[in-house]
Amino acid sequence: MASTGPGNGVSRGLRVRLIGEGDESRAAIKALVEGLGEPAAEIEIDGAAAAPDRAGSPDVVMVLLAANDASAIQALREQTALNPRPAVFALLDSRSPALMKRAMRAGADELLFVPLDNGETTRALLKVSEARLRISRREGGVVCSFASVTGGVGVTSLAANLGIALRRSGKRVALFDLDLQTGALGVTLGLEPEATILPLVRLDRKLDSIQLESAMTKHPSGLYLLSAPKRIEEGETVSDVTVATVIGVMRQLFDFVLIDCGDHVDENSVAAWEHSDHIFYVLQQSITSARCAWRFIDLFERLGLSSIQPHFILNRYRPAHPITDKQIEATLERELYARVPADDRSVERAEVTAKNLWEVAPASPLVHALDDVARRIAPADPESAAAENGLFARLKSALATRA
Ligand SMILES: Nc1ncnc2c1ncn2[C@@H]1O[C@H](COP(=O)(O)OP(=O)(O)O)[C@@H](O)[C@H]1O
Ligand SMILES: [Mg+2]
Repeated sequence: MASTGPGNGVSRGLRVRLIGEGDESRAAIKALVEGLGEPAAEIEIDGAAAAPDRAGSPDVVMVLLAANDASAIQALREQTALNPRPAVFALLDSRSPALMKRAMRAGADELLFVPLDNGETTRALLKVSEARLRISRREGGVVCSFASVTGGVGVTSLAANLGIALRRSGKRVALFDLDLQTGALGVTLGLEPEATILPLVRLDRKLDSIQLESAMTKHPSGLYLLSAPKRIEEGETVSDVTVATVIGVMRQLFDFVLIDCGDHVDENSVAAWEHSDHIFYVLQQSITSARCAWRFIDLFERLGLSSIQPHFILNRYRPAHPITDKQIEATLERELYARVPADDRSVERAEVTAKNLWEVAPASPLVHALDDVARRIAPADPESAAAENGLFARLKSALATRA
């Protein structure tokens, strides 16, 4: 298993190593970087030579570079060849194009000029800290948000059913009902949760796994639900900070965290999207649904979340519908991630018998489509797949020898 050493944590600030000569400028750079506050950074100073790894690998190496300084260029090259490779900033003492080219050709990721400019240095360091945050997001379980800006399209059903599909494949699954006013996830799952998110809102201490578990309700399939508060007005007390904290603890405990973001956008849903690995936007074959999806795409881009691309799922898909899936794709200028067929009969049977779709219609195209999406977000573990292949290969060759 991959170990996550302390070097991968996000709670600490950026670790910066400064390489180069000149006590005065080194002290000034250290003071400036450590005084920035955002992102928090601590700087350690080395001589001209690339120092061996001491307190774990740095996130950023800054190399002071003067014109005609061959040893500094060499130090820069050594840093860019390291594995894991830090972000490498060349700090130039002049704006000479020749020097800039040398630094770039030696592999520098950023060129900054001494004396350092506060704004430029902040920008360059933030790029590194944000990239590190994106990586850390992927540690622990996979977080998937389900959203729409039109109601009744199947956001809740998809979150619930994908939760069951993932659970059936042996994953530890948590569902988080962030459609706080509607709170329909429990009903859709046939649960009547006593516990809700409410005590977590009122916590004055750091949230831990025991408190989270006691706020969740177990479903017969084995998945866990963090339900919306019982009263509509209590939803108001849930803040984006609570949402982020809950997701952080959930992903430590579960392989998958599926969030029903409902059909309106607010600070809570944006917090959920920010912490998600996948965002599924649900739509149907209607003009309104496609138009609203566009409004969502526009908002999403303006929020600056474009490092995650939302996936579009066409729910209640009917191939014979006058608005075709191809037309929807043309309107969105994007491919659909999945088409989940309309199947009123199976959905109704599941509701009436209080069973899940796998129990009432295991061979239906609807169940196949749901299993298919689940497989895509939870691909088989490559190691076990390889082991399986190995077994099949051995079996085949054994049969071939006998034949
Ligand atoms: N693929 C489907 N086929 C048939 N009915 C569906 C399908 N998906 C959802 N439904 C039904 O559509 C209705 C609205 O779904 P819901 O998940 O509550 O939507 P939303 O959360 O977007 O408001 C529910 O009655 C649900 O059972
Ligand atoms: Mg809903």
